[in-house]
Amino acid sequence: MRTLYVELGERAYPIYIGRGLLEQGLYTRHLDSAQALIVTNTTLSDLYLDTVRRNLARVQCDVVQLPDGEAYKNLRELEKIFDALVDGHHDRYSTIIALGGGVVGDMAGFAAACYQRGIQFIQLPTTLLAQVDSSVGGKTAVNHPRAKNMIGAFHQPVAVVIDTDVLESLPVREYRAGLAEVIKYGLIRDAEFFDWLEARAPALSERDPEVLREAIYRSCHNKSEVVAGDERERGDRALLNLGHTFGHAIETATGYNSWLHGEAVAAGMVMAADMSVREGRMGAPARDRIVSLFRQLSLPTAPPALCPEEFRSLMGQDKKVERGQMRLVLMDGIGEACVTADFEPQALDATLDAMRSAS
Ligand code: NAD
Ligand code: GLY
Repeated sequence: MRTLYVELGERAYPIYIGRGLLEQGLYTRHLDSAQALIVTNTTLSDLYLDTVRRNLARVQCDVVQLPDGEAYKNLRELEKIFDALVDGHHDRYSTIIALGGGVVGDMAGFAAACYQRGIQFIQLPTTLLAQVDSSVGGKTAVNHPRAKNMIGAFHQPVAVVIDTDVLESLPVREYRAGLAEVIKYGLIRDAEFFDWLEARAPALSERDPEVLREAIYRSCHNKSEVVAGDERERGDRALLNLGHTFGHAIETATGYNSWLHGEAVAAGMVMAADMSVREGRMGAPARDRIVSLFRQLSLPTAPPALCPEEFRSLMGQDKKVERGQMRLVLMDGIGEACVTADFEPQALDATLDAMRSAS
C-alpha cells in the first residue's frame, strides 16, 4: 500500500492506494464514534457492500442504497440519505462512508456537509474516475435539472481508501472514461506524466494492473498538490476543469444519461485544445498528440451534434463564469494550462463549427 497526504492543515487527510483495502477495513480506524452510514448504490451493494459491512460489525452501521446513475444525482434522492441519518438517530459524531463512483461520492459528501451542519465522511471510490479525481479534494454536489453540480459544498473527507482490485468489475466504458481524467493531469501540469501515459497507451488500454496503480498514484499526487495549494478554487484549482465547460454543456444537453462524465470531458479537452490552437497559444502537433492518445484509448474526440447557440448558452451557465464573462481553461502547451477570459469569441465559434462537422 502507498499513502499520500492532502496537506490541508487541520483538515489534512490520507489517501491510501493498494490492493485488497476494502477487505482489510483500514477505514475503520477513521471512525469517530460507534455510528456509521454506508451510502452506496444498487449496483455496488451487490458487489462490495458485504465486504465493507463485515468490517463494521461492531458499530451501528446503517445503509442507504441509491438508484444507480447520474440522472439520480439530485436533491430528491439526497433526502434518502438524510432520512436514514434521522431514522437511525445518527449524531454529529457519526461517519458517512461513500462506497461507489463519483455520483455516490458527491452525494454522500454533500449530505455529510449538510447533516447537523457537517459530519465526517470517508471515501471508498470504486470507479477509476472517482479514484483519481472526485474522491479527493472535497468538492461535493448534486445537479440542478438545468445545471450540473450547481448545488453543493466544499467538505473534505477524513480519508480516501483506494482499493485498486475493485476496478476489475468496472465496465470497460467506465474504465475508459476514467482515463480521460488521468490524462487531464498530464495536460494541465505534468508533461512528463503525459509522455509516460502516451508510452503506455497499449498497457492502459489492456488495464495492466501495475501500470494502472502507478497512473492512479501519480494522478492523486497531482490532485492532492493542486487541492493543497487552492482548496476553494480561487486560483489554480480551476485548471482541473480543463474541458469541463464544454463537457458539462454536453452532459446537460444530453440529459445526463447518454454521455459519461469522463467521455464528455474527453471531447471537451479536445475542444479546449482546438481553441488553444486557434488562439495561437499551442501548436497543432500538440493537439494532434492529444487526439491520437484519446483515439488509442477509444475516448471521444468530438462532441455530439448540438447547435452552436445551444452549446454557447449551456457553456454560459458554467461556475467559472464571473460577472457574466465566460472563462475557459486553455492550453499553452502540453503540461501548461491557464484560466482565461481573454479569447476571441470567433475562436470559440470556429471550434464549435469545426467540432460540429467532426461529430
Ligand atoms: P458513477 O458514479 O455513475 O459510476 C459509474 C458506473 O459504474 C455506475 O453505474 C456505477 O454503479 C458503476 N460502478 C462503480 N464502481 C464499479 C465497480 N467497481 N464495478 C462495477 N461497476 C461499478 O460515475 P463516475 O464516473 O465514477 O463519476 C461521475 C460523477 O463524478 C459525475 O457526477 C461528476 O460530476 C462527478 N465528479 C466529481 C468530481 C469532484 O471533484 N467531486 C470530479 C469529477 C467528477
Ligand atoms: N474535479 C475538479 C476539482 O476537484 O476541482
